[in-house]
Amino acid sequence: MKLIQTIKELRAELDGLRKAGKTIGLVPTMGALHAGHASLVKRAVAENDVVVVSDFVNPTQFNDQNDLLKYPRTLDADCALLEACGAAYVFAPSVEEIYPEPDTRRFSYAPLDTVMEGKYRPGHFNGVCQIVSKLFLIVEPTRAYFGEKDFQQLAIIREMVRRYPFAIEIVGCPIVREADGLALSSRNTRLNAEQRQQALQISKTLFESKEYARTHTLEETRRYVENRIDNAEGLRLEYFEVVDGNTLQTVTQWEDSAYIVGCITVFCGEVRLIDNIKYKE
Ligand code: PAF
Repeated sequence: MKLIQTIKELRAELDGLRKAGKTIGLVPTMGALHAGHASLVKRAVAENDVVVVSDFVNPTQFNDQNDLLKYPRTLDADCALLEACGAAYVFAPSVEEIYPEPDTRRFSYAPLDTVMEGKYRPGHFNGVCQIVSKLFLIVEPTRAYFGEKDFQQLAIIREMVRRYPFAIEIVGCPIVREADGLALSSRNTRLNAEQRQQALQISKTLFESKEYARTHTLEETRRYVENRIDNAEGLRLEYFEVVDGNTLQTVTQWEDSAYIVGCITVFCGEVRLIDNIKYKE
């Protein structure tokens, strides 16, 4: 596995492979890798000749500078994990390499990017589209892999690929959870032992709500989740939205769509955690 820090060097490596007809899988990450990322990389390795993993904490997608400063940076450990997963290249550029000048491009995919995270993190998805589109232009992958934990991000990237247009297959991969249900996230490392225990209530509530939903209306189920989180020790609900899985627009009745997902964001202390559950698919 090669660690590459410049666009020029990465392009030189990949041009030859592309000319030789090799398929290229890209797994964009911000590092601080865990088993969730490993599952994306392993799938990419199984489905492509060569896999590139980008490891770059993208400053333009952070609307909170404190969050950016606190984002864990663990390149050495990331490389060890990626080598074990079979990645061929780790692309870990500097901020100056990616943004030699400010990126003034604006991406707007309303209403996909104006709801949920878009409402609470203004500019976040614009930053995500800036970096992901740059990575797509640099790597020109055959396929790119994203986790379904960031459900809204995946929907927006699919839309960006459709509209740009990029000839890239976007592969969405299921959420990976700890044995006790907590969705894996790089932010989990910022939870202390007590918060880690409190955060469990998020996935537990979502799983129980799926059961509850069998015999209750959508509105009752939504209130069930909100009440459970509101009453949970150490948690503060930012939002829980039940949406159509394609349009991300709110649905109010189970009959409204064949694909219904509940998306939640909760603060555990100052750590912002997201999760989701598919009620219908
Ligand atoms: O999901 C993430 O980790 C990031 O948003 C991504 C897609 C790597 C872009 O920086």
